[in-house]
Amino acid sequence: MTVGIDRINYYVPKTYLDLETLAAARNVDVAKYKRGIGQEKMSIPDLHEDIVTMAAEASAPIIDNPDQIDMVFFATESGVDFSKAAGIYLHKLLNLKPTVKVIELKQACYALTSALHLAIDYVKNHPGQKALVVSSDVAWYGFNTPGEVTQGAGAIAMMISENPRLATVTPGVTYTSDVPDFYRPNTMDVPVVDGKFSIDCYLEALKETFQAGDYPYVCFHMPFAKMADKANASLTSSKMDEDQLAVIKSVSKEIGNIYNGSLYLALIGVLIHHPQGLEGKTIGMFSYGSGSIGEFYTLTLTPRYASVNPVDRYLKGLSERKSLSIEAYEKAMNHYVKREHSLDYQAPLSQGFALVAIEKGHRIYKAK
Ligand code: COA
Repeated sequence: MTVGIDRINYYVPKTYLDLETLAAARNVDVAKYKRGIGQEKMSIPDLHEDIVTMAAEASAPIIDNPDQIDMVFFATESGVDFSKAAGIYLHKLLNLKPTVKVIELKQACYALTSALHLAIDYVKNHPGQKALVVSSDVAWYGFNTPGEVTQGAGAIAMMISENPRLATVTPGVTYTSDVPDFYRPNTMDVPVVDGKFSIDCYLEALKETFQAGDYPYVCFHMPFAKMADKANASLTSSKMDEDQLAVIKSVSKEIGNIYNGSLYLALIGVLIHHPQGLEGKTIGMFSYGSGSIGEFYTLTLTPRYASVNPVDRYLKGLSERKSLSIEAYEKAMNHYVKREHSLDYQAPLSQGFALVAIEKGHRIYKAK
């Protein structure tokens, strides 16, 4: 039985901060952000948004019939509760059956890749069932920090089924190593990050797991787009040229880091640039989660992937956004941090999936 990714979708908030605006406010040469780090914009969650609403926005367009889903894997490193899985809130918003199993997975930016492989195994062991794999994160490092320029927010959703229309996936090669490159203790809002060390740990994991092959693209986890250049330069074979690199960075540089989903934004970039033409082609995928686990696996696009490749919708997600002033960005993130510390909260009115209130720490959402 062939099991794999039937459909994929991404969601980014409708507001962003242009890094020119950030550079001017922080008195930094904009070339450092745009050329040195490789980013153009960072997406900023709206007042009504959190990881649950973003996950719902990413998932809804790829669900034809909610009753077909039997399992939800929700990967995040910006969880809203230590005990309750964010996927339970998502389960209600998506109107899924009460018999659905829902779990949350965590291992920095790697958990989504693990969720994908677990979901494939689950569907193989439960013929006829479907699993929804979703990640949603807000990458928040704090104002005036070295990581500020590498922030972002967004979600990825994938439907895993038999006879997948998008891609099949091979089991990966993993490398696990206990390193203090990036972690967020329970007492902290922002991660402890040693950015330079983290780059070294990332490259070490890539060296230990990479499998050479004839790939049109190798998608890399991108905490910032320049990381893809560094990763590519470290390869001893299957290196990409500048044009190929531009494709895998094309979406990430417009959005910033969405943690778990960042690797999959590289894949969305490939799908946008190739509405068709990559049938049967195998793409390299390198996932890295600080702390750390690296995994290299491959993904082969099916002969009919073009039938589930809504390029217009992908592009609309990027074009229908509005730029924020530095004051609006700071207000939005101050609001986000304050709200995440609130046991009681009432949200302003909004459209779409929305967090409308927090009551004694329990979150209340509204569907579209
Ligand atoms: N014009 C062009 N490039 C410039 C420049 C300028 N005026 N000024 C600096 N640069 C380049 C630097 O040469 C450097 O390039 P290199 O890495 O190829 O050498 C790059 O811009 C970054 O400059 P640097 O001084 O290293 O920046 P920094 O000390 O502010 O740190 C990060 C950058 C990415 C390490 C930091 O933003 C960070 O820690 N981000 C978080 C990363 C993360 O999340 N990691 C964990 C998940 S994997």
